[in-house]
Amino acid sequence: MGKYIIKVAIVFSLFSCSRNNNFNNSESDIYNKVDSLMSLMTLKEKIGQTIMYSGDWVTTGPTVSSNNIKLLKDGNLGAMLNVYSAKKTKELQKIAVEETRLGIPILFGYDIIHGFKTIFPINLGHAASWDMKDIQKSARIAADEASSAGLHWTFAPMLDIGRDPRWGRISEGAGEDVFLTNEIAKANVKGFQGDDLSKNNTILACAKHFVGYGAAQGGRDYHTVNMGQDELRNVYLPPFKAAVDAGVQTLMTAFNELNGVPATGNKFIFRDILRDEWGFKGFVVTDYTAINELVQHGFAENEKRATEIAIKAGVDMDMMSGANRFYLEALVNEGKVDADLVNDSCRRILFIKFKLGLFDDPYRYCDENREKEVTYKSEYLESARKSAAISSVLLKNDDNSLPLTKNQTIALIGPLVKDKENIIGNWAAAGDRNGKAISIYDGIKTYLGDAKILYAKGCNIKNDDKSGFQEAISLSRKADKIVLVMGEDYHMSGEAASRTNIKIPGIQTELIKTLKEEVPDKKIILILMNGRPLDLSEEDSLVDSILEIWFPGTIGGFGIADVLFGVYNPSGKLPITFPRNIGQVPIYYNVKNTGRPIPLENPNEDYKSNYIDSPNTPLYPFGHGLSYTTFEYSDISLSSNIIGESDILSISVNITNSGNYDGHEIVQLYIHDKVGSITRPVKELKGFSKIFIKKGENKTVNFQLTCKDFKFFNGKDFIFEPGEFEVAIAGSSDFSFMHSFELKL
Ligand code: GLC
Repeated sequence: MGKYIIKVAIVFSLFSCSRNNNFNNSESDIYNKVDSLMSLMTLKEKIGQTIMYSGDWVTTGPTVSSNNIKLLKDGNLGAMLNVYSAKKTKELQKIAVEETRLGIPILFGYDIIHGFKTIFPINLGHAASWDMKDIQKSARIAADEASSAGLHWTFAPMLDIGRDPRWGRISEGAGEDVFLTNEIAKANVKGFQGDDLSKNNTILACAKHFVGYGAAQGGRDYHTVNMGQDELRNVYLPPFKAAVDAGVQTLMTAFNELNGVPATGNKFIFRDILRDEWGFKGFVVTDYTAINELVQHGFAENEKRATEIAIKAGVDMDMMSGANRFYLEALVNEGKVDADLVNDSCRRILFIKFKLGLFDDPYRYCDENREKEVTYKSEYLESARKSAAISSVLLKNDDNSLPLTKNQTIALIGPLVKDKENIIGNWAAAGDRNGKAISIYDGIKTYLGDAKILYAKGCNIKNDDKSGFQEAISLSRKADKIVLVMGEDYHMSGEAASRTNIKIPGIQTELIKTLKEEVPDKKIILILMNGRPLDLSEEDSLVDSILEIWFPGTIGGFGIADVLFGVYNPSGKLPITFPRNIGQVPIYYNVKNTGRPIPLENPNEDYKSNYIDSPNTPLYPFGHGLSYTTFEYSDISLSSNIIGESDILSISVNITNSGNYDGHEIVQLYIHDKVGSITRPVKELKGFSKIFIKKGENKTVNFQLTCKDFKFFNGKDFIFEPGEFEVAIAGSSDFSFMHSFELKL
């Protein structure tokens, strides 16, 4: 450390005489420091700051062999991913700081997508909680654990709007809705970055994947994306704008091409929109090897040309391609790339390293004592338990088959009952599969004890081995209720995990049918562990209750048991549509009306936009989720039926808890802009409020709207237009509008 302090002091003393010496962290002060440092750096060293290699501890993409330690020693590495722990990062940081010419610290980044060690529900699941405080808290906890393990940067939040359940990465985002995803973007950025990046428990967030990745053709990962300005500006870009407005410091390029131009070489999205329109000041990192992939895309003749395209498009840091390492210096020396582009990227990266406080103390994130103290804190595990509970969605509950009671014996059947490996889902960072995780069995046992649980695996997740069926049948005959824990394994969603069939895999459904036939007098409760919307049409006709638990995380077993036994009354609402069948996909709630919508009054009228073999409606719509109680909505009132540009429209509703359980309700506000200069969706979520009402009591919920809420991109600019709007407040997107108002300008 001593050598380091001398080195930095020399560097800054050479250049700080012209200004005050107190190292306050105002932006201009930091830029002065950055410029001082850059004036000492060679071109090669500046390029080094734009290079990121994997620590090869964890492979999250095609592993490219790289002698990154030599790069580190030569001062030609700006960041590493996939390496963590206070000890290991300190070892590597010491090389960067004490063995290189200028001692510039490196960044350590990692995919902390839904927790670092303490794993929370997958993001699609956590989105179902509609609980921004809880989502922000989970990011804060992840940042605390990760920063204690030497990490400065997470490649999250993933903000790709998803409308296609075939796409495996739908599990990582916040679902199909812009408004909900915008809110979750803000909650994550605040949770990860806190209010002061110089604190040693805050980390950089990274909004990804910019942009349009979720619209891959056929739901096939990495596939081509084509869309008009309407969808790009009104659906896929807004969550990234929300993250930028919330202060996100980095963005990551998407793998896909967008309208013929691969994102990683797309000047329009990175320079015109992100920098010029939005004023983003942070830095852009590519996705894993994405620069080189411009060659595969057919957008660059070779990797050297790809390197030139990427930096000119606005990319700052190269993750794993080796492109900047091998070609950027030559490109500058040949005059093909202006050195100022390298200077801009280097400056953005160094600015953030200063903001993190790494030049004040490069080892501030490498405290082994803090790592021990912070990791798996009991309050963090308790928080994850609550997140699991509030993220579950009660899709169906005929005859109030749930909640379970302690005096019942249950047949607990299915390949995911005792599972500890899949329960933390994909992208589970440093989560401990099999060790720390609490299975659904573990959770239920705390309520029932072993004696009242008749367990049988019944079948596997994927193969067609029926040898377990008979045991499942005989146990079910002895039980009061049948509880099934079924779904996907964690490899069946996430990156490079698209499916053409979105049914429950293997012969799990066949086991349900068999139990229904062999034990017809028993209620069947299906608990689903999965990373995407599934086609549950068949199961919906076979079972009495369905509880969607996603991959609920490290403490999932306890959290879900709390729901099953009514300690937590389920409140989750779907952030994404569950189709009746794959043929309906893409299917989402905020569609356009078309010129031939199916008339409600005559659904069988000919020549309408319908299928001849399926309804248009989904099995379970966006915003759907039941409770053990019932909530009645009444007395919806508007403060006015006409508003002007500067007016505020207040809408209120009375909600009564008319059932037998206290509970939370997620009250949703929707509008419909009936006529626009480009067509508008039939419904748009514009607000929500999660409230708690005791049984028998009621509450009034108020929302406010202004014309800013009606803005949309009309091909030229973001505008709102006069005319008639419909408005509704409901507990799901499955409603008919009953109220309207006029915007007069
Ligand atoms: C992967 C993913 C990206 C992740 C990165 C680093 O390919 O696309 O989301 O952050 O590589 O692991």
